[in-house]
Amino acid sequence: MMTPESIRDKVQSIIQLPALPTIAMEVVELVDNPKTSASRLGKVISTDQALTAKVLKIANSPFYGFPRKISTIDFAIIVLGYDALKEIVISISLVSSLQRKSDAHFDAKAFWDHSILSGVLARRLARDLGYRVSGEVFVGGLLHDMGISVLHRYFKNEYRRMTEIIKETDLTALEAEESVLGVTHADVGGWLAERWNLPNHLVEAITMHHTPGLAKQNKDLVALIHCADIFAWRMKPQPMDFDKGVDFDPDALSHLQLNDVQVLQEYMQSYRQLVQSDLEAVTQFDHTQEG
Ligand SMILES: [Fe+2]
Ligand SMILES: [Fe+2]
Repeated sequence: MMTPESIRDKVQSIIQLPALPTIAMEVVELVDNPKTSASRLGKVISTDQALTAKVLKIANSPFYGFPRKISTIDFAIIVLGYDALKEIVISISLVSSLQRKSDAHFDAKAFWDHSILSGVLARRLARDLGYRVSGEVFVGGLLHDMGISVLHRYFKNEYRRMTEIIKETDLTALEAEESVLGVTHADVGGWLAERWNLPNHLVEAITMHHTPGLAKQNKDLVALIHCADIFAWRMKPQPMDFDKGVDFDPDALSHLQLNDVQVLQEYMQSYRQLVQSDLEAVTQFDHTQEG
């Protein structure tokens, strides 16, 4: 039987990842060098097609609110700016370095969409609620569920049992994780974030994203990421297993002054419309391409 301590040791020891994949390190170096031109940076990012596609997806998210379609990396660099680009590349690389292909128990595409949507939503929510929009909000939103990837990849049997319990019993997803492992994906993600030496605020946001009332260091950040996560879940047509039983925490809502149901609904509605208009834009684009 695994104890929380043994799981923590395993999470922090088996993951012998380089701090960052080569491409991300290259991008960080280039961005930190004031002599780097946008076109040089664009060339380096473009060598990685998967990374390019994800950067463009984020740049084109309606939550960033750029009026024109951003179809090239060079243009994305100009509108996002070097620093935002660096954060995006780092967090995408971290999530990608963990991720495995979809299987019967894990939908990689749905997971990515949820991560990206949570990141852009957290950033947007921070802006709309008048908080300082820091890179940590986006990065935290993007990384908050990375514990799920860790469980899927490194705790295969436990992960499979958890998904079975989620499907076959009345337990919520978090209760199922507790019943099998004694810890949740939030703990696991936080341990990995520690191991990666991410800033303490981010470690806390990842660890507390389902229990924002326990946050001590940066309640704003934790509450924003918690709410963005739930918003993101609620916007998906097809719920994932790990969605089961997930709901807003009253502490986080009152911390963000979103505890008025009507206000909360209005935010939800306006974000939903943004996602919708995004989908329509994509369909229209595809349509014109065909014609
Ligand atoms: Fe989560
Ligand atoms: Fe989530």
